[in-house]
Amino acid sequence: MKVLGILCSPRRGANSDTMVSAALEGAAEKGAETKTFAINEMNIKGCQACMYCKTHDGCAVQDDMQPIYKELNDADAVIIGSPVYMWQYAAQARLFIDRLYAYLNPDFTFKIQKPALVFISQGNENADMFVESLKKTPLIGLSVQDMIVVTNAKLPDFVSKQPELLENMKQAGRKLVDDL
Ligand SMILES: Cc1cc2nc3c(=O)[nH]c(=O)nc-3n(C[C@H](O)[C@H](O)[C@H](O)COP(=O)(O)O)c2cc1C
Repeated sequence: MKVLGILCSPRRGANSDTMVSAALEGAAEKGAETKTFAINEMNIKGCQACMYCKTHDGCAVQDDMQPIYKELNDADAVIIGSPVYMWQYAAQARLFIDRLYAYLNPDFTFKIQKPALVFISQGNENADMFVESLKKTPLIGLSVQDMIVVTNAKLPDFVSKQPELLENMKQAGRKLVDDL
């Protein structure tokens, strides 16, 4: 059983990373093999709209999304962590999300179907501020079981200083695996 982490903050060790890591820890406790990709440290282009994926399996763009596709194809579940930047997913998350287009068939069915958790870290204190629009963003092939928003996360160690939040994330990771 494999659970894949997708880290979309540029800040290693900050809130999104802490959330994804805690959930992966919970998943590992339940026997999952885990692996994380940090999008910011990879060479990933936006979708080139070449439509190769509409007549073939896979994506024609030969960049660091290729190892991610390979792991996504193998994964049983996915955990994404992203900050809110300018009212929406950080650009690193948008790159990843746009490239999920490769999993969309011309008849709008999906080539993969995996459960996913999404962790959002934001500076704003209002948990309702961005979540509805984030929820409307389609993650092709990934079925979001839960989107957990952490508010007031202005400092990078905001989450790591709160054991009860960390336990919530771990529990979400355990549940993700239990529900497989
Ligand atoms: C470029 C930029 C844009 C941001 N835009 C928002 C925003 O629109 N709303 C918000 O609540 N926080 C915003 N923030 C704050 C981050 O969402 C917050 O610090 C988050 O916890 C960072 O996640 P990280 O610790 O995982 O890097 C922004 C931060 C940066 C650097």
